[in-house]
Amino acid sequence: MEFKNILTTTTDGILTITINREDKLNALNKLTIEEIGVAIKQGAQDKQVHGMIITGAGRKAFVAGADISEFSSHTTEEGTALSAHGHRVFDSIEACTKPVIAAVNGFALGGGCELAMACHLRVAADNARFGQPEVKLGLIPGYGGTQRLPQLIGKSKALELLMTADMIDAEEALHLGLVNYVTTPDELLGKCNELLAKIALQSPAGVAGVIKCVNAYYQSHRSGFEFEIKSFGECFDTGDFKEGTAAFLEKRKPAFERS
Ligand code: COA
Repeated sequence: MEFKNILTTTTDGILTITINREDKLNALNKLTIEEIGVAIKQGAQDKQVHGMIITGAGRKAFVAGADISEFSSHTTEEGTALSAHGHRVFDSIEACTKPVIAAVNGFALGGGCELAMACHLRVAADNARFGQPEVKLGLIPGYGGTQRLPQLIGKSKALELLMTADMIDAEEALHLGLVNYVTTPDELLGKCNELLAKIALQSPAGVAGVIKCVNAYYQSHRSGFEFEIKSFGECFDTGDFKEGTAAFLEKRKPAFERS
């Protein structure tokens, strides 16, 4: 498959996947998610590759979320299918038995934060900003955020971030355990490479076994992911969703009605 929205390079056994829609702050449209899935699968099958990095093009954004312009007129069925597709690809990242690190080089919002959380480790540049702003759009996270965020940082702070749509900076993300390290923007990829080189010295079977066992938690919690997909789809049939997405596209604040 020839990629349109991502770039891939392999150096010293490390496959780097760069989401390349800088003018849209690397927002994830359907094709981009599909391409990430294909690249991860190729990396998993390539004997020369021992680890992977996912990052965003430019210095401003890792990924500023799912592409709002693409789904603003979706029906419930289309919204549910969109969420299920994202889940399948993000699950494949999490289930990959080679380490995958998110190199978070700027905004990691909505689907961007969820993409980073589906990776095994996260390293953030000191200009990175994390958040789940879906409630501003009349939505909920649809790519695993309601499940992975509480597991990574605890229910209390996760609920606060999910309900307020607040953004946090890299230092706070480190403090909360959302990221493993914070670096300068220039040192970001170097730190990811260093971590992957360290892991590559260990037994591949041992590393794969650790990933599978840590992920076993989610095998017994599938219903949470299924419930998120269904609930995300249902948002598309609401006035809040229509107002929230229209407000974003018209570059104004949403005016939600309380029923
Ligand atoms: N989907 C589609 N397009 C997006 C996008 C998204 N999630 N995030 C940013 N963009 C686009 C903008 O529409 C803009 O396009 P334009 O130049 O054609 O108007 C471009 O990327 C640059 O974004 P802009 O908003 O002008 O940059 P900013 O510096 O003023 O603000 C953000 C940056 C990240 C705060 C702001 O873009 C934002 O809030 N994005 C949406 C975040 C979000 O809600 N994500 C969850 C989606 S479910």
